[in-house]
Amino acid sequence: MHIDKLEKNWAGISLGIAGLFVTVILGSAFFHGIHAPSNVETIDSAKLHLSAEFAEDKLGVERNPNGSVTVRMVAGRYGFYPKDLTLPAETAITFRWVSLDVIHGVHMPMTNMSTMIVPGYVAQVSTVLHHAGDYPLLCNEYCGMGHAHMWSNIKVVSKAQWDALNTQGGANHG
Ligand code: CUA
Repeated sequence: MHIDKLEKNWAGISLGIAGLFVTVILGSAFFHGIHAPSNVETIDSAKLHLSAEFAEDKLGVERNPNGSVTVRMVAGRYGFYPKDLTLPAETAITFRWVSLDVIHGVHMPMTNMSTMIVPGYVAQVSTVLHHAGDYPLLCNEYCGMGHAHMWSNIKVVSKAQWDALNTQGGANHG
């Protein structure tokens, strides 16, 4: 089969462009740490208040012995609880989310903290927050009449500031 030289060249160029796009997408996903949440862990959403991990007094920020931080939060119509949290910058943080009713989404703008929260499952996201500041947590999955009002606050402070806050015996449970 004869293929014209010009046609061959253009086929090569268009395949090259497609290849370039795929490389850019994979490359940026890799460098920004973007990936599909892959944690599969089930929980009884109707009994969160009785669970060992997500009872009301267990929610909030926990400092782990290795210096990392675990954040446990519950999403429910229409809010994320606890409502206000302070977290350290430049620290390994693992968010663990559960829903007490329907599917919610949680998104922290300007970070890669974003996941769906499906009832019956624990959604887990590990990240490092690089910039201090006030961040809203927004629900980005339509969950009912109050969806647009479903948000909460996270304040990110420097590691030193956070350590100071947490050694004054101040419980940081929102
Ligand atoms: Cu929760 Cu929308």
